[in-house]
Amino acid sequence: MARVMLIGANGQLGSDLSREIQSGPHDLVPLNRTDMDIRDHEHVADLLASLRPHVILNTAAFHKVEACELDAEQAFAVNSIAIRNLAIAAIELGRTWCM
Ligand SMILES: NC(=O)c1ccc[n+]([C@@H]2O[C@H](COP(=O)([O-])OP(=O)(O)OC[C@H]3O[C@@H](n4cnc5c(N)ncnc54)[C@H](OP(=O)(O)O)[C@@H]3O)[C@@H](O)[C@H]2O)c1
Repeated sequence: MARVMLIGANGQLGSDLSREIQSGPHDLVPLNRTDMDIRDHEHVADLLASLRPHVILNTAAFHKVEACELDAEQAFAVNSIAIRNLAIAAIELGRTWCM
């Protein structure tokens, strides 16, 4: 059984995916921002190393255009730097990275 780590599980896409995955044969680990802030690279790497998911699905995003324009730093932190760090942590765990 594949362990699926779903990041952003409370979001619109995340909750839809959560329902779909839960209805299947996989072991779902749903994570919301309280469980793991994707900007916290150390915590992300620690959680990946302890949970050892086979599949990592990221749906966390800072994507409302007006908010991104007002806070570009936050947009880059969540949508770019955190994703790079997540990919590095996944590769370190020996997982193939796919976005
Ligand atoms: N909805 C769709 O139909 C759809 C379709 C295709 C692609 N997408 C893409 O999928 C992504 C998510 O879209 P969505 O509609 O599901 O957005 P959403 O409802 O706003 O969900 C985004 C989630 O990301 C979480 N998040 C934000 N910053 C975070 C952080 N630093 N650490 C951890 N979690 C964080 C949010 O948590 P909080 O609630 O705590 O802020 C929220 O649960 C976007 O890139 C979007 O373009 C969406």
